[in-house]
Amino acid sequence: MWVDGSPRVACVTPVRRLRGREVTTLDGLPDPVRRRWADALVASGGSQCGFCTPGIVMRLAALESAGARSGGARSGPPPAPGADATAGPDPGPPPDKIAASLVAHLCRCTGWQTIEEAAMSALGRPPALGEADGHHRARDLEAAAARAALEGGVPQQVGPEVVLGRPGFADDSRPADSLVAVPDGRGGYVVGESVAAARAGAGKVQGRSTSLPLEHPVAVPPGRWDLVLATTWLEPAYVEPDASWATPGGEPASPYGNGGAFGGKLHSPVGADARRLADEHGRPVGVLWSREDVVRMGPKRPPVAGGIATDGTGVLRVGCSRGGVTTEAWASVTSMVARVAPGLVLEQVPVAGPPVSFDLRAAVWAEAAVLTACAREVGRGGTAGGDDIPVQVTAPGGGRAVASCRADGSVHVVVDAGTVLDEVVLRSYAIGATHQALGWVRSEGIAVDSEGAVRDLTVRSFGILQARAMPHVEVTILHGGARPPVNGSDAVFAAVAAARWLADGLPPRWPTDRIGAGRR
Ligand code: FES
Repeated sequence: MWVDGSPRVACVTPVRRLRGREVTTLDGLPDPVRRRWADALVASGGSQCGFCTPGIVMRLAALESAGARSGGARSGPPPAPGADATAGPDPGPPPDKIAASLVAHLCRCTGWQTIEEAAMSALGRPPALGEADGHHRARDLEAAAARAALEGGVPQQVGPEVVLGRPGFADDSRPADSLVAVPDGRGGYVVGESVAAARAGAGKVQGRSTSLPLEHPVAVPPGRWDLVLATTWLEPAYVEPDASWATPGGEPASPYGNGGAFGGKLHSPVGADARRLADEHGRPVGVLWSREDVVRMGPKRPPVAGGIATDGTGVLRVGCSRGGVTTEAWASVTSMVARVAPGLVLEQVPVAGPPVSFDLRAAVWAEAAVLTACAREVGRGGTAGGDDIPVQVTAPGGGRAVASCRADGSVHVVVDAGTVLDEVVLRSYAIGATHQALGWVRSEGIAVDSEGAVRDLTVRSFGILQARAMPHVEVTILHGGARPPVNGSDAVFAAVAAARWLADGLPPRWPTDRIGAGRR
């Protein structure tokens, strides 16, 4: 939002600071301006779940308005069709200024690049790859949504309404007369007439990060290995916290909004909780988790440790907390690992910590695929530390990706996801998966104390790569002929992680550093 015309991050701005000041949200911008931003972001694929997007548009639109005040970047209504968008005295802010302006924001889905391309288009610079120019009007947005659903794992929308903040987030549709329930920190809920009343009753869990070091709670299995890897706890960090609402006896609102939360909401209890509380109170009840609630109670990518020989044989140990995992979930992950790394034996190891989930993006099979692919490269002659080595991964679902990391830090990804359906969306998901993979290898992790409690509760403490630290990603999409469409971004995720680790020299623990993470 803007406060007296200057951009502020609404989610950390106390309402009391706004007394007597003018607040402008995305709905307060002139229609032609909103349309221009919506067109640019749909055309580039710069909005996936859309939860971060209205705030980011307000941030970028403030650059535009600042440019206009100084006689620079174009503002006001969009140019006439066919007009030269680059004409004028100033082509708009340079890419590094756009990336720097996003430092207070988090987009977990897109990997920033497509947002920056949209910004360059909307602010008057030609987009880097020539895609962000409003061509979505000629696109089949239903096919685009089908591709997004394959990548995100749940039904999704693609279009201007997503950019404008209206893809259907659960808490936006909560009835005005509903009660609100927030977690009480002891496994139950405090119910109040409003969010403020419920939170006052629950007591605030302070968002914080800690100076505790990251732990690698699973030991590498004993043996003579050519390659070893240990990982830490990883927060999925989907941006829309879990929320639902229900009327007594009614079907709860889906917590999914417009994205799959990288698998993090598959077993979210908020829908069932809303229904139970609505039945108890005889009124509609909305359940709302805060960021801190999600981090404390939501599932994490399990920490693992593995050793592998160059012939592909080895052992991968998986940290399992809070009563372990179901037999069914273990059987499923074992079968996926068998497809990508047939020489690896899986072992469960009990660890103290937050709940883990194998439903999070490519959990465990990606680790197995990375170990196997990199062991193969080591066996080919000790290529560790070299740039531009292509690493190929085929996901259990059939998606294929080849990734390489260049000496300048940029990443090249080739993806084959069968019938493409929509290039813009597939490219956007490939770049988003690249962003997550780079963070996973180099900078992401959350501290968990000896009792198993999560100590890093702020978004900034997760170590997610910021926009200005994200290297350029070049995506080549293969057209898979008549092959049916399959998820491609999970294969990209694993292939990029392997390529980055290989190029970095295969250090035995992730995250290998905190580059660009904005963290201690
Ligand atoms: Fe940015 Fe999902 S599109 S967080």
